[in-house]
Amino acid sequence: MATVLALETSCDESAAAIVRDQTVLASAVASQVEEHARWGGVVPEIASRRHVEALPQLIDQVCRQSGLALAELDGIAATAAPGLVGALLVASVTGRTLARLHGKPFVAVHHLEGHLCSVQLGDPLPPGPYLVLLVSGGHTELLRVDGPGQYQRLGRSHDDAAGEAFDKVARLLGLGYPGGPAIEAAGRDGDPRRFALPKGRVSRPEGGYYPYDFSFSGLKTAMLRQVRALEAKHQGDGEPLPLADLAASFEQVVAEVLVERSCRCAREQGLGTLVLVGGVAANRRLRALLEARCQRDGLAWRVAPLAYCTDNAAMIGVAAAQRLAAGQHSSLELAVAARLPLEQADRLYEPQACF
Ligand code: KG4
Ligand code: ZN
Repeated sequence: MATVLALETSCDESAAAIVRDQTVLASAVASQVEEHARWGGVVPEIASRRHVEALPQLIDQVCRQSGLALAELDGIAATAAPGLVGALLVASVTGRTLARLHGKPFVAVHHLEGHLCSVQLGDPLPPGPYLVLLVSGGHTELLRVDGPGQYQRLGRSHDDAAGEAFDKVARLLGLGYPGGPAIEAAGRDGDPRRFALPKGRVSRPEGGYYPYDFSFSGLKTAMLRQVRALEAKHQGDGEPLPLADLAASFEQVVAEVLVERSCRCAREQGLGTLVLVGGVAANRRLRALLEARCQRDGLAWRVAPLAYCTDNAAMIGVAAAQRLAAGQHSSLELAVAARLPLEQADRLYEPQACF
């Protein structure tokens, strides 16, 4: 059994958690969303400063909640990649300093491996390899998972990530930041079939389409055109935009495209379980559609618990506990990286710092 303190500051949430294997003993998140909302997106410099202010209190809070002192832990973990470099450094430097002070192993964690592990905070997974649909603000990927560190990417977005599309369309509709929850709230009672929107296919140079890949840029443009057409039609008559129907139609087409291609990939690749994780996995329309289609297609499915879909440190703790249990930890010299493909997550555990 491994008990770890995990720290996460890769974007705009500061988070700390104490996790024992797959059990959360304490978890705390300080969101900066309101501050960034004024600018319509994350301002990296502000994010780093707020992490520096928030993290010490969050660490105190999870120690108090769990009743554990740092000296009683088996390791200290921090997200090391990918993300905003200045923001990542806050958790990384704090984690490495605490590890050094208390003589504990330091475990750097790949942020996406953390998202993959978030599903383990819910019901146990069926045995065998599974397919993960990872949908966040920066990534939209279909990954075959055979075990910790064994990942094979089978599909991806060629332009915007799904969460990014939610954020941009929310801005277009004047719904604010972050866009996912704003669109979900606006579209709750809307008609998801009112506007026909494109499902964005990615052409192969040799003809046909990549069956498991995504593109959201055409959908974004279609939404813009729809809004402009409605504005032109109602110019002067004071009729407001049908925000509920626009939001619901957008959510519906994103959910359909994600679920249809994921189920097809799972079926064709012989993977019996489909797993949904990442910030966009908090979307209720998407969760419900995934469940319905998996049931229809005879696939098992797991969705990350709602509280652990958006960025948090508990998921980072699960990933770290797994790495520690496998005898892995990281160099205290290891810095952070803005980019690092998930398939290269094992580099974080090389004896010599790799970046
Ligand atoms: O995983 P996450 O917290 O951070 C990244 O690693 O990117 O994901 C954030 C993204 C944002 O784009 C946000 O708009 C989206 O997840 N999101 C949602 C919902 N809640 C958050 N998208 C759709 N529906 C939601 N309820
Ligand atoms: Zn994330």
